[in-house]
Amino acid sequence: MRSYVQITGIVVTALLTGTALAHDSAPLKSENFDLPVGDRQFTGPGSEVANNNCLTCHSAGMVTVQAPLSKEVWEGIVKKMIKVYKAPVADGDVAAIVDYLSNNPAASK
Ligand code: HEC
Repeated sequence: MRSYVQITGIVVTALLTGTALAHDSAPLKSENFDLPVGDRQFTGPGSEVANNNCLTCHSAGMVTVQAPLSKEVWEGIVKKMIKVYKAPVADGDVAAIVDYLSNNPAASK
């Protein structure tokens, strides 16, 4: 009976010490950091239609990383996005997207 009381005392002491240590060694503090913006969106004149239609599945970087491409090739890529990957692009937006991609240096550099 006596040893039971002693053991209980040791366990309680260990728990209290452990709690105190955990409290001292893991202070919570706030950190601020900036998310990378870079290539995530299209920029420049006419970019709105591309931002509205082309960022659902991948970032703008997937597009701007391409070598300069002709209007015909960009049209083919936009149509591939629609046909193959089921990009929900309105028919009326296709020409504006192709114009933007083939004229804007930010998209066709
Ligand atoms: C429904 C999803 C979806 C949408 C919306 C979408 N894409 Fe894509 N896109 C993909 C997938 C999937 C790939 C292939 C990724 C891979 O191969 O790793 C891709 C790849 C690309 C590539 C890389 C070259 C290639 O032909 O694979 C370009 C350029 C591109 N997309 C342009 C566009 C443009 C411009 C738009 C807006 C009209 C657009 N995407 C919208 C899904 C989408």
